Amino acid sequence: MPAPRPYWTHEIFVSRAPLFGAILERAKATAGEEARGIHRILRAAGAPRRARVLDIACGIGRHVVPLAQLGCRTVGSDFSPTYLAEARRYAEREHLRPEAAHFYRSDYRRIDRTLRAAREPPFDAAISIFTSMGHYGERGDLATLRAVRRVVRPGGLFLLEMGNRDWILAHYAPTGTMEGRDDLWIREARRFDWETSTARSDWTFYRGRGRSRRKLFEQEIQVRLYSLHELKSLFERAGWEFVRSFGGLTDPRPIGPESRRLVVLGRRPVREVPRSRSGRARSSSRPTRRARGPGAPSG
Ligand SMILES: C[S@@+](CC[C@H](N)C(=O)[O-])C[C@H]1O[C@@H](n2cnc3c(N)ncnc32)[C@H](O)[C@@H]1O
Repeated sequence: MPAPRPYWTHEIFVSRAPLFGAILERAKATAGEEARGIHRILRAAGAPRRARVLDIACGIGRHVVPLAQLGCRTVGSDFSPTYLAEARRYAEREHLRPEAAHFYRSDYRRIDRTLRAAREPPFDAAISIFTSMGHYGERGDLATLRAVRRVVRPGGLFLLEMGNRDWILAHYAPTGTMEGRDDLWIREARRFDWETSTARSDWTFYRGRGRSRRKLFEQEIQVRLYSLHELKSLFERAGWEFVRSFGGLTDPRPIGPESRRLVVLGRRPVREVPRSRSGRARSSSRPTRRARGPGAPSG
């Protein structure tokens, strides 16, 4: 029997990382403005100016570096060795000291284990930008939201930015393109699974146009897309308080019909309610054994 193909995220971000890396490099053009938007949102929600910020899927450091330049003490983490190497080079080129920006290799669904082993103190805020979640379905996202909650201090924040399901479906286009550096581009052929709210797309990577166009690689990807109310409820199941939504990192308005992006800000409660695995708050009058045990996780 042939070995099963690795999961798409491994193919795109690890095995063939330089291809999508060209898309991330091109997207650096907007990262400075986005970082200023992130900083503004976190400051307005009470984070200190020199906040300790964790980017849980930092890629090539597009936001880690400009956030550090705004005074934040940043930590980037990603599971792609290629992107992390580029992120470290980027921070070095910008003469950032390790206190201003350093990096870990970690799967974000288990980021708490990595940072605990490294004895990283809790963060004022964590971020996940450019549709870096939804890759492992709702279960994966719930695990990630819980793991991130454990590494943020009580009262700390989580800012998540991804495509807005409602806008994407209202403007549904069966094909699309994404442009990268060095004449690299992706043709997307899209399908939508309505039962699971999952966008399944065939991504074909090309270099060049017209007669010099060369096909490089093809991969099916799948991303769980959310409406605001669903993502809000997922945050709450994972033990976060919903603070508010934004129509974009640089758009201070709450989500509306014109919002292409979905930005959700959550806060780790200062006093946490013990939760069952399903995310329901447990009755405080009859604490369970798990909730009573020393150092028991709260969700
Ligand atoms: C669309 S890119 C966005 C990168 C970055 N946030 C940005 O805006 O440039 C998605 C990122 O998620 C990372 N990623 C995907 N699955 C991951 C996982 N399980 N753990 C950690 N990182 C992951 C990829 O390596 C990639 O860097």
